[in-house]
Amino acid sequence: MKNIFDAHFLKEMQSATANMYRLGWDERNGGNISYLLKEEEVADYLYLEHVIRTIPTGFEAPELAGRIFIVTGTGKYFKNVKTDPETNLGIIRIGKDGSTAELLWGWEDGGKFTSELPAHLMSHIARLSVNPENRIIMHCHPDYTLAMTQVHDIDEKSFTRTLWGQMTESIVVFPDGVGVLPWMVCGNNEIGRATAEKMKDYRIVVWTLHGIYGAGKTMDETFGLIETVEKAAKQFILTSRFEKKNIITDENLVSLAEAFNIDFKREFLDL
Ligand code: 13P
Ligand code: ZN
Repeated sequence: MKNIFDAHFLKEMQSATANMYRLGWDERNGGNISYLLKEEEVADYLYLEHVIRTIPTGFEAPELAGRIFIVTGTGKYFKNVKTDPETNLGIIRIGKDGSTAELLWGWEDGGKFTSELPAHLMSHIARLSVNPENRIIMHCHPDYTLAMTQVHDIDEKSFTRTLWGQMTESIVVFPDGVGVLPWMVCGNNEIGRATAEKMKDYRIVVWTLHGIYGAGKTMDETFGLIETVEKAAKQFILTSRFEKKNIITDENLVSLAEAFNIDFKREFLDL
């Protein structure tokens, strides 16, 4: 049996949470990550028949029965994951009934998975139906995206168009645009279902006055997606009080899409 502290997935969780904290995206216990693992990669580090305890999830996800995830814990601070992963993270397997989590490792203090597990697991199901290689769901509270939801219309077309217009790379990195949910109570199945519904069409879903959800194949890809949206939102907030002298036009966006051979949401432009 190999040492779990050497596992690449554990190290990826540690470095992602540390970077997210450093960037100010995850104050206090803000944010959560779930990472779908392959059974064979976990079996190198843990006895899969050894279940520490079972925890009800509060919703049904039979599609994910037997799937294993490493997840951040509820109430845990991202800043502490690097030095104390065993308390702040857990590895769970969704039980045969689809509504319990079998704890295989972690949450040594008796803790449990993030309160946003419904949004994570439902989003995994939605993304896997579009891309079987999707493995990461990442949630955080980045400043500028959050600020933008306070002052910008939250319909997806105009929100996305504004972000695409802030910097040249935006449409290249998120050609599928940004889904946006109105303000909702968080941590329950309702916001989970609403997020997952958007995830069928978008890899980014913004929660008005709360934060952002990103999905991707790898930690880097998902992190980079959120980072790019946040940078574009920052440009918007930094320049919103000034008269714009130079802008990216719809025609510019079309030329970019052609140059980079990108399939983007054309209906978000007024061509
Ligand atoms: P958890 O501490 O339960 O992960 O919640 C943090 C959060 O960001 C809620 O949306
Ligand atoms: Zn949150």
